[in-house]
Amino acid sequence: MKKLLYQFDTDQLPSVFDNVVGYDGGADHISAYGGVNADNVGALVEGAIFTRSPKDKKNTAIFVGGANMPAGEALLAAICAKFFAKFRVSVMFDCNGSNTTAAAAVACFGFGRTLSGKRAVILAGTGPVGQRAAVLLAREGARVAITGRKRAVVQAACDALKSRFGIEIEAIEAPSNVERGAAAAGANILLATGAAGVTLLDAKQWQENPALEIIADANASPPAGIDGVGLMDRGVRSHGKILFGALGFGALKLAVHRACIARLFEQNDLLLDTDEIYKIAKSMVAT
Ligand SMILES: NC(=O)c1ccc[n+]([C@@H]2O[C@H](COP(=O)([O-])OP(=O)(O)OC[C@H]3O[C@@H](n4cnc5c(N)ncnc54)[C@H](OP(=O)(O)O)[C@@H]3O)[C@@H](O)[C@H]2O)c1
Repeated sequence: MKKLLYQFDTDQLPSVFDNVVGYDGGADHISAYGGVNADNVGALVEGAIFTRSPKDKKNTAIFVGGANMPAGEALLAAICAKFFAKFRVSVMFDCNGSNTTAAAAVACFGFGRTLSGKRAVILAGTGPVGQRAAVLLAREGARVAITGRKRAVVQAACDALKSRFGIEIEAIEAPSNVERGAAAAGANILLATGAAGVTLLDAKQWQENPALEIIADANASPPAGIDGVGLMDRGVRSHGKILFGALGFGALKLAVHRACIARLFEQNDLLLDTDEIYKIAKSMVAT
């Protein structure tokens, strides 16, 4: 029986990245659909849940992706609402790599260290990756703030996290490097999750910040999101800080993403979202 993955993307063009990792994670065939939303997904889910016998349903799974988190979350809810009794398949939610990337980063930060009580600031944390990293850091007991260029946008992201996860995240408006440097004052953990190729902080701003212990940059497209953090850094020590670059912790992200895809095909009722994916990342961080 072939392992079939249905890749439902809220963007018009389904992600090639998610498609490749789907195959590398063990799917035999992936059908990638773009422009999927809560209103049009119903018939697609029915096709997935009604076609195979109960013992064979684990060979069909769904992946939810796309850049728009609220649209992705609404899509996930609509998919789950179609399931009943044994008529269900396993689902992974990872809009824009949000869960796998955040899980890999925070698992690296916390490996052999306690994050509880630390002050964590996520630069440009309003996107999918930053928002999920905020959740995981808060779950670990850190006091978390996210920055963005416009107060209304940052506050809306914090409000959404409060309503979805019940966590308090501080909103900081910081439209320039100078303001982002000021936002990082007193922070112990600094994570940059800005859009690809945007530099959010100059090297001196973190090098001369005495409170900072761990610094990570999620952006893999040059120039660096945090100047002076190397793409491949994984626990590298510099200026008394521990550095993680996008590919340094990105290797774990990819491994976690593949492992999650493999797990989808082990049972027909798995939901892999923020907490489940983080648990998997923590179990893999030392390997
Ligand atoms: N390392 C890995 O394995 C891995 C995996 C997946 C993704 N990534 C990377 O992780 C990063 C975050 O991904 P994402 O999807 O969450 O990002 P995103 O949604 O594209 O962008 C995140 C935030 O960046 C801010 N931003 C956009 N343009 C900006 C500019 N010109 N100046 C300052 N801020 C700007 C925006 O915040 P405001 O509008 O609120 O300011 C936006 O919400 C990206 O660089 C992505 O490529 C890395």
